[in-house]
Amino acid sequence: MSIKNICCIGAGYVGGPTMAVIAQKCPHINVTVVDINKERIAAWNNDDLSSLPVFEPGLDLIIKEARGRNLFFSSNVEESIDKADMIFISVNTPTKTYGKGKGMAADLKYIELCARQIASVSKNNKIVVEKSTLPVRTASAIKNILDNTGNGVQFQILSNPEFLAEGTAVNDLLMPDRVLIGGDNTKEGQKAVNQLVEIYSNWVPKNKILTTNVWSSELSKLTANAFLAQRVSSINAMSEICEKTGADINEVAQAIGMDSRIGPKFLKASVGFGGSCFQKDILNLVYIAKSYGLDEVADYWEQVIIMNEHQKQRFSDNIVQTLFNTVSGKKIAFLGWAFKKDTNDTRESAAIKVADNLLSERALVSVYDPKVKKERIYADLENLKTRSDEENKTLLKVHTNAYEACKDSHAIAVLTEWDEFVNYDWAKIHKAMQKPAFIFDGRGILNKDLLENIGFSYYKIGSGY
Ligand code: NAD
Ligand code: UGA
Repeated sequence: MSIKNICCIGAGYVGGPTMAVIAQKCPHINVTVVDINKERIAAWNNDDLSSLPVFEPGLDLIIKEARGRNLFFSSNVEESIDKADMIFISVNTPTKTYGKGKGMAADLKYIELCARQIASVSKNNKIVVEKSTLPVRTASAIKNILDNTGNGVQFQILSNPEFLAEGTAVNDLLMPDRVLIGGDNTKEGQKAVNQLVEIYSNWVPKNKILTTNVWSSELSKLTANAFLAQRVSSINAMSEICEKTGADINEVAQAIGMDSRIGPKFLKASVGFGGSCFQKDILNLVYIAKSYGLDEVADYWEQVIIMNEHQKQRFSDNIVQTLFNTVSGKKIAFLGWAFKKDTNDTRESAAIKVADNLLSERALVSVYDPKVKKERIYADLENLKTRSDEENKTLLKVHTNAYEACKDSHAIAVLTEWDEFVNYDWAKIHKAMQKPAFIFDGRGILNKDLLENIGFSYYKIGSGY
């Protein structure tokens, strides 16, 4: 039997785009995305497509095509679960902030709530798909909850982790490197796997759809993120050596990336990786390793995070040191606040930590980001609880124009690699700044020769003298 009705619980950065693409490619399937956050659902239903809760290039057109046809956003969670043959769980799985595993383990309370709700509402057999990133063996906990509902409904649990990256989510979903589906080896398990394979086959070539057992699938997701983050920490570690020795990290990256065993992607030195997942997923992996007594494995992966924290810290330390060991009362302009370009997401963005460090040194920070709203920036700082909201608002200003943000500043720090920064009128910016005018390019995107000719003192991450 083919799937006719899909429900996705969680209308966030994964649930929204993923289901939009499934709906676009499978007009014969009704897809309803539900969320307890009514504001978020209202924003997904907004007629003004520039106000969708998630900014992703190309997403607005897909929503326009599918919404109201076979794609729906609703806050009626129970009704949608009841109607569905297949339910994707795409809720957040943040790091625990309390109790056992605090600061390391994944907080699975939202997952458990979903499982309990599915169990209590379901009146017919359903396939439950883990779309969220979960610790290995979570499927057994979900199954345990679902199988003990007492109403005799049969559930199959599949693991189908999502590998999209923000900023390129639509392309990643339309042309994934692979789709991974983990299921039970039983006849019913394999039947469920095939039903999900059938859905993806509407646009993904069969040879890119990989099926495995549930545990391999769950663990592959954590492994993929750990490997990706490890590459960034590795290149960032080398960036510090470059700065001491006169080597250039871009040249080093090119040289090693031409080795086909290493490959050229994901070797861009930066002010540190951000995003909602790398840190949380590695912490989760470290916690899992520790819980099996695998201390060396845990230490190995933890170092990826230690290196990332160091990279953010040394970036702000370098600003303070270069500005004659004091930034107190000095205006420092931030270009970018998002954790990477082409997204409005700021979760774990390096900019937050760098700003916090500079504000503690009493700098006056002015921020411009093309997509991030003022309220988000202040909320990010407030979450740190380093100082009062009032103080944050006095010391940090948010601008909607980059030239205004840079005016009268002593230094500019590039925190996000937005394309528009490259083509600014840098001579105009220089003219309006305090002298000497410094640029700290945490993304290595600006043209050194051009800026130095204008008169800037230019520091690029990973580049020596
Ligand atoms: P998100 O915070 O943007 O969205 C999660 C949504 O789930 C929220 O809107 C929240 O209100 C909703 N929710 C929570 N509990 C609910 C419940 N009981 N009923 C209904 N709605 C509920 O999170 P996200 O970035 O979409 O990530 C979701 C999962 O996907 C995480 O496990 C994450 O690790 C994983 N993931 C994220 C990305 C990414 O790029 N953001 C990529 C791959 C995988
Ligand atoms: C990452 C993975 O790339 C996705 O495959 C995964 O699905 C997702 O996490 C997830 O599980 O949430 P995402 O965090 O959206 O995606 O974005 P990335 O492109 O991976 O960038 C993460 C961070 O690393 C950003 O801050 C980025 O600027 C930084 N980065 C990335 C570098 O500093 N250098 C690089 O070469 C690449």
